[in-house]
Amino acid sequence: MKKVLHIVASPRGAGSRTLRIADALIKKIQKDIPGAEIDTLDVFAEKLPEMNITRVNGKYMLMSGQELSGEAVEAWEEIKAHINRFLAADIIVISTPMWNFGIPYKLKHYIDVIWQPGFMFKYTESGPVGLAAGRKVIVVSTRGGDYTPGTPAEAYDQITPYLKTVLGWAGITDLTFISGQPMDANTPEGREAKINEAITRAESINFA
Ligand SMILES: Cc1cc2nc3c(=O)[nH]c(=O)nc-3n(C[C@H](O)[C@H](O)[C@H](O)COP(=O)(O)O)c2cc1C
Repeated sequence: MKKVLHIVASPRGAGSRTLRIADALIKKIQKDIPGAEIDTLDVFAEKLPEMNITRVNGKYMLMSGQELSGEAVEAWEEIKAHINRFLAADIIVISTPMWNFGIPYKLKHYIDVIWQPGFMFKYTESGPVGLAAGRKVIVVSTRGGDYTPGTPAEAYDQITPYLKTVLGWAGITDLTFISGQPMDANTPEGREAKINEAITRAESINFA
């Protein structure tokens, strides 16, 4: 059975524009893949493990080719559980608003927790190799302004290039970006039109 991980990075619940678009996308996935299992991870509600000195020391052990040892072994249990939860998914939906031109800090926290050597990527003599290839990722985002590709404002968008880089590092290259914009620099009618445009795009993706 196909598994979907929905990573929610807006704390605004029912008021979230991003989640309105994401809800339509999730419904489309359920329509195309009957019985698809949806696992929702709300990074604002979840108590993510802190990347404190013990956990960071563990990362350096792995980066230098050692096994985890000492205090790091237990401290990494939560990290490994999050990595396994991510890797269990065939399809990953990341729902994120733009915050200060990039992703909200809780989503960055989640990425800093799970993007680990030996799990998401490994270093080889011929360079780094992604270990999470084969997964499909759809990034749903809304932004107060308009950073549409091809416009001068595109250069300010740090969501798209950052997620492309970090996902690509793990070997995930099947990426679709759905952006609702502008949200705040718009009239209520204009905003609705942009949200509906993004929903139509979400519904046009074929998962069957
Ligand atoms: C803390 C914070 C920072 C924001 N920074 C930006 C920004 O840099 N650029 C922008 O266009 N919009 C910015 N916004 C506006 C949001 O991206 C926009 O309102 C978005 O639609 C919110 O999504 P949501 O309704 O799913 O939470 C910011 C909003 C918040 C709360």
